[in-house]
Amino acid sequence: MSPVVKGALLGALGMIVLLTVIALLVVLTGGYNVAATDRHLPIVGWALDTTYTNAVEGAADDIEAPAFTPAMIAAGAGEYKEYCQHCHGGVGAGRAEWAHGMRPMPPALATAAREWSAPEVFWLVKHGVKMSGMPAFGPTHDDATLWNLAAFVKQMPEMTPAQYASYAGGHEH
Ligand code: HEC
Repeated sequence: MSPVVKGALLGALGMIVLLTVIALLVVLTGGYNVAATDRHLPIVGWALDTTYTNAVEGAADDIEAPAFTPAMIAAGAGEYKEYCQHCHGGVGAGRAEWAHGMRPMPPALATAAREWSAPEVFWLVKHGVKMSGMPAFGPTHDDATLWNLAAFVKQMPEMTPAQYASYAGGHEH
């Protein structure tokens, strides 16, 4: 091996060791601010968001959505108002006050639902999202209920506040 190649390899190895030590120091000293009152560093925020979007896209790839019917949408409304509205808000209905203190703040699905396909919404509701506060509803609800929820969520961007309010709701939390 030429001295130049050897030097480059040793340099790369040294760099890897250094980065590992820095990462371990951050972990072991708690050297990253986990307070929900502070934003992530931009690089951390980017890494988390991009991982999240790509992971959900990949995981939902093989899921096929049924054709949504008005009955499914209506059935999903009660569950939505009971289990989701306090975090995500509705159409013309805000989140609970405390949800503004979450980081990430639960997106307003009245608009954010456009950015996700029906299988992606279904997957998100079934499995939840680690380290974000988005609960998994799969352990407590069957797939039929989750599809009703997905049907309702995908319809939300098309709803007026009056239409949203006219659906029978769950109890307020
Ligand atoms: C305790 C608060 C909380 C509850 C309750 C909750 N969610 Fe979430 N949800 C979140 C948070 C926080 C995120 C953002 C996750 C992230 O960005 O990593 C999220 C993300 C989502 C997303 C993806 C939106 C996006 O743009 O990232 C969908 C769809 C969703 N939730 C649907 C639901 C549905 C449907 C329910 C009710 C069955 C529900 N959620 C209940 C907190 C909640």
